[in-house]
Amino acid sequence: MKKKKILITGVAGFIGFSLARKIIQYKNFEVVGIDNINSYYNRKLKLKRLSLLKNKNFKFYKIDLIEKNKLYKLFEKNNFDIVFNFAAQAGVRYCYENPKSYTDSNIIGFINLSEMIKNFYVDRFIFASSSSIYGDQKPFPKKENSEVNPINLYSLSKFSNEQFAKSISKTINTTMVGLRFFTIYGPWGRPDMMILKYLISAYKKLSFPLFNNGDHYRDFTYIDDAINICFALLNKKMIGKFAIFNICSSKPIIITKILKEINKYSKKPLIKKKPRDKADVYKTYGDNKKINNFLKKKIKFTSYTIGVKNTCDWFLKNKNLFS
Ligand SMILES: NC(=O)c1ccc[n+]([C@@H]2O[C@H](COP(=O)([O-])OP(=O)(O)OC[C@H]3O[C@@H](n4cnc5c(N)ncnc54)[C@H](O)[C@@H]3O)[C@@H](O)[C@H]2O)c1
Repeated sequence: MKKKKILITGVAGFIGFSLARKIIQYKNFEVVGIDNINSYYNRKLKLKRLSLLKNKNFKFYKIDLIEKNKLYKLFEKNNFDIVFNFAAQAGVRYCYENPKSYTDSNIIGFINLSEMIKNFYVDRFIFASSSSIYGDQKPFPKKENSEVNPINLYSLSKFSNEQFAKSISKTINTTMVGLRFFTIYGPWGRPDMMILKYLISAYKKLSFPLFNNGDHYRDFTYIDDAINICFALLNKKMIGKFAIFNICSSKPIIITKILKEINKYSKKPLIKKKPRDKADVYKTYGDNKKINNFLKKKIKFTSYTIGVKNTCDWFLKNKNLFS
């Protein structure tokens, strides 16, 4: 049987790496990964993730989505069946510091990649969107057809991706699927996100900025659950050529409760209280019925107690990556 060829962008990142690691275990797939390995966070962690992907089913190229010529050559050489786009400037707070990184990677980069998808007749394009596009307004939980209200450049860039993909899906044969991820966490996670930031602060004896007294709710979703969904979407027959899915456990948890759970496994850092940040929404809470119905099963999401424990265990074993 001919192997399916899959491109994963942002493969040195948290979600891209986690998906590549799963797919390369299956002999009927070949994975090509690209990443610009930027220094938005710890490059040592990104390089370590890549070193774990040593496998004859995996190839890596250092390419930036902005480099259209390199993308063209990559697509010309490889006949990709499926493309996952996880490469992006992530994070909402950083958009006030470096807005250009969002327009370059998330908007121009996304359009460059979409052009390749179109010109090289890729069957399926699955891309990362974000829960942040819903903004702050009630009611909860947010359904895929709820009103959106992107309140910062990051969420605007993700919403523009969805709209662009929707419009081109009408003119080409590729099936386009946008995944609205809600606070994905777990082993090999992002050091700019709350759980790892707290653990690193404790380990390095740094102060941890606690915004709005920790009075924020996030729909924490464990990495393995998100990856199992991405994997299921590889082959699943789609109805129509464009779809959006929430990827969430549908169980919002207040930040202070997560911190208490981490404290069971780690020392506490010094807390530095900060006012609410203008980039942060108060609460994220998604409805996951659409993906459950589509996959025809009730997905059993990992509880936050197990997810936090696994993350802390992983961190304690891999602290040297953050020294
Ligand atoms: N982790 C979450 O909770 C979460 C939530 C919502 C949405 N998302 C989205 O999911 C995707 C993956 O997120 P993640 O948590 O793995 O982030 P990440 O930052 O760990 O991974 C992104 C990777 O993309 C690479 N990259 C950035 N710009 C690039 C460019 N122009 N060209 C090539 N590579 C580039 C980075 O070096 C990084 O390795 C992102 O699009 C992110 O916006 C993540």
